[in-house]
Amino acid sequence: MKIGIVGVGNIGGAVAKIFAKAGHSVILSWSRNPEKLQQLAAELSQYQSVEVGTPAEAVQKADVVVLSAKFAIMDDMRSQMGDVTGKIIIDTNNQYDIVLPEGKSAAQEVQERFESATIVKAFNTLYFEFLLSKGFASPRFIIPISADDEAAKAIVSKLIEEVGFDVYDLGGLENVFAQEVTGPLYNKLLTREQADALLNA
Ligand SMILES: NC(=O)c1ccc[n+]([C@@H]2O[C@H](COP(=O)([O-])OP(=O)(O)OC[C@H]3O[C@@H](n4cnc5c(N)ncnc54)[C@H](OP(=O)(O)O)[C@@H]3O)[C@@H](O)[C@H]2O)c1
Repeated sequence: MKIGIVGVGNIGGAVAKIFAKAGHSVILSWSRNPEKLQQLAAELSQYQSVEVGTPAEAVQKADVVVLSAKFAIMDDMRSQMGDVTGKIIIDTNNQYDIVLPEGKSAAQEVQERFESATIVKAFNTLYFEFLLSKGFASPRFIIPISADDEAAKAIVSKLIEEVGFDVYDLGGLENVFAQEVTGPLYNKLLTREQADALLNA
């Protein structure tokens, strides 16, 4: 699979690395420091084919796009990504730099900005170093996922499994709050059993 990364920071960089290690080709885009993208591309090229491109190239060439940004720069990113119609976008983003109206999720905010794309919320709950170091544990740690589109969710679920985490399916975006900043599953390294206990508490 070809995975476009828009926003190669802590999370975008970590996700690019684990996907490349799992055998996916990646396209890296968006950094104020072009050298950083080239350096990461050189590092990841030991695993798989890696390209550096513009956000629009990352979107157009990719089967799945990872959006990993601050909300403050998301509109700028959006304008540089071009046509996202029908694209699966993995939303890793947390609402630290935006005030959301009560009852609105960060995922809904992203879906509004990327109206023609399919948003799958995942890879937002774990500290980036855990993504790099805690895969394939026994028992596996969970990555919560929420999406309204089952086919898109299945594609991202397979990616989660391939990088050594247990898919914890919360259902549609109406349930996404459990994995967002104030939710019980947020910022915790959990096994399935521990997550079940937290949700049932
Ligand atoms: N850090 C974590 O462990 C973690 C865990 C889960 C979820 N998340 C969420 O994932 C998203 C990304 O977090 P992150 O820690 O990966 O962020 P980050 O390291 O700041 O990087 C995000 C992207 O934004 C760019 N960027 C940052 N500040 C910018 C600015 N002022 N102007 C233009 N570009 C800028 C970075 O490029 P440069 O190379 O130019 O900096 C990078 O491409 C956030 O919504 C965060 O809440 C983070």
